Amino acid sequence: MERTQVVVPAGEIERQRDFIRKTAQELARRGHPPLAVVDTYGCQQNVADSQRLMGMLRDMGCAFTQDPDAADVIVINTCAIRDNAEKKVFGVVGQLVHAKERNPELIICLCGCMAQQESVAKKIKASYRHVDLVFGPQALWKFPELLFETLQSRKRVFSIENVHGSIAEGLPVVRESGVKAWVSIMYGCNNFCSYCIVPYVRGRERSREPEDILAEVRQLAAEGYREITLLGQNVNSYGKDLERSMDFADLLAEIDKIPGDYLIRFMTSHPKDAGEKLFDTMARCSHVAKQLHLPVQSGNSRVLRVMNRGYTREQYLEKVRYARSVMPELTLTSDIIIGFPGETEAEAMDTVSLIEEVRYDALFTFIYSPRPGTPAAQMPDPASRAEKQVWFDRLLEAQNRISGELHRAYVGRTVRVLVDGECGDKRWPLSSRTNGGRLVHLDGGRDLIGQYVDADIVDSNTWALFGTLADSQRVPPCGDRPNSPHDHNAF
Ligand code: 5AD
Ligand code: SF4
Repeated sequence: MERTQVVVPAGEIERQRDFIRKTAQELARRGHPPLAVVDTYGCQQNVADSQRLMGMLRDMGCAFTQDPDAADVIVINTCAIRDNAEKKVFGVVGQLVHAKERNPELIICLCGCMAQQESVAKKIKASYRHVDLVFGPQALWKFPELLFETLQSRKRVFSIENVHGSIAEGLPVVRESGVKAWVSIMYGCNNFCSYCIVPYVRGRERSREPEDILAEVRQLAAEGYREITLLGQNVNSYGKDLERSMDFADLLAEIDKIPGDYLIRFMTSHPKDAGEKLFDTMARCSHVAKQLHLPVQSGNSRVLRVMNRGYTREQYLEKVRYARSVMPELTLTSDIIIGFPGETEAEAMDTVSLIEEVRYDALFTFIYSPRPGTPAAQMPDPASRAEKQVWFDRLLEAQNRISGELHRAYVGRTVRVLVDGECGDKRWPLSSRTNGGRLVHLDGGRDLIGQYVDADIVDSNTWALFGTLADSQRVPPCGDRPNSPHDHNAF
């Protein structure tokens, strides 16, 4: 598809701003300051999308609440990646019928990946009649128009067409904290892994123009954001659809030139497109965290082939070896699926042996969940759920041991961390992250949030590290220090 057909014209975005103004007037007629709930499920891309939805709602005059009974508008941003994610959302949506009975003026919106599936839209149409507006991720930028139409017509509105998807610049945003920010660099996925629903609901790969990304990062760095995570279903595909020659490594190198005391993370990387150029660039760029989320999914080459992953076990291991050779301090995490259709016990144990070999810092582990419409959902799946659970437990046991061992090796070291929030624990009131993204519970006051400090690691468990402030080494707030691109080498 031509790029001009993918990028939403500025005039269209301006039209949506008009709808924001009109919707604000419509909501103001209710005679009280309007309140909105935005409930988000699933991945970081959904979190980023919700921040845009909140930006639009804020500009419509809404403040935010968690209480559905106090709300004028409820938006549920959904995830379709596994069956249990969908079940949870149907449970939540079902419950909202009572809020709607108590307040018939309430507008209930369902959006995100579930909403893009025709079967879900049909089910909502027929059985969840209290839902007023349904729209997929591709229609996110049209939310003001769709909400206005719903409010005015008092009819139910469904917008799930346009499976290719678009790029919309200039949407307002509400970011949750002044410390961490998400920046989408591309949308959609062309990989069609045989188990995955994402390419069907998030459309084809499309990359934002580098200038737009650089301007956003520059602004975030100037506003004092300390951790900026670049998002895409497969960030390594960045640039393939641009008219100029620019890939993800080039983009990272350009972002790295932006001055400021911030760290760049990114997710997710597909191993088939992650290569030496990317790892060399990561190693060279001082703003780029030495952290890689490189989902392997399986440690068996036959299963990887049927999954349509585009690499073998050996090729994956070779990439890990190279990445570690140029970044010895690299923190490595992965996603694993156990119980893919036709997987045998021996093949599942190949995955366990791979994680023993790689020794990931942490894993995100899943039991295969059939997604209607994907090729894997049609494949014979003879292993029982109970068998898969046994394999899964063996995997978890191995990973918990490995994470525990790797974490124990931090005890006694002093590491530089970014304090990113509170965690409600009396002994360890602060949460912070190492350069590699490991969680450190820390003592200290909330005035440290947003600062880099040195932490003496005194304890650890499977999931986290525990540290005390190394007072003498506390780093002054960033405003007080020169913008040195080498600041992060101390991590
Ligand atoms: N079943 C189980 N896990 C899945 N994932 C994607 N699709 C499925 C599925 N059908 C996992 C993959 C992916 C992560 C985001 O979710 O591991 O990397
Ligand atoms: Fe799904 Fe594969 Fe695309 Fe990831 S790369 S979103 S697992 S199809």
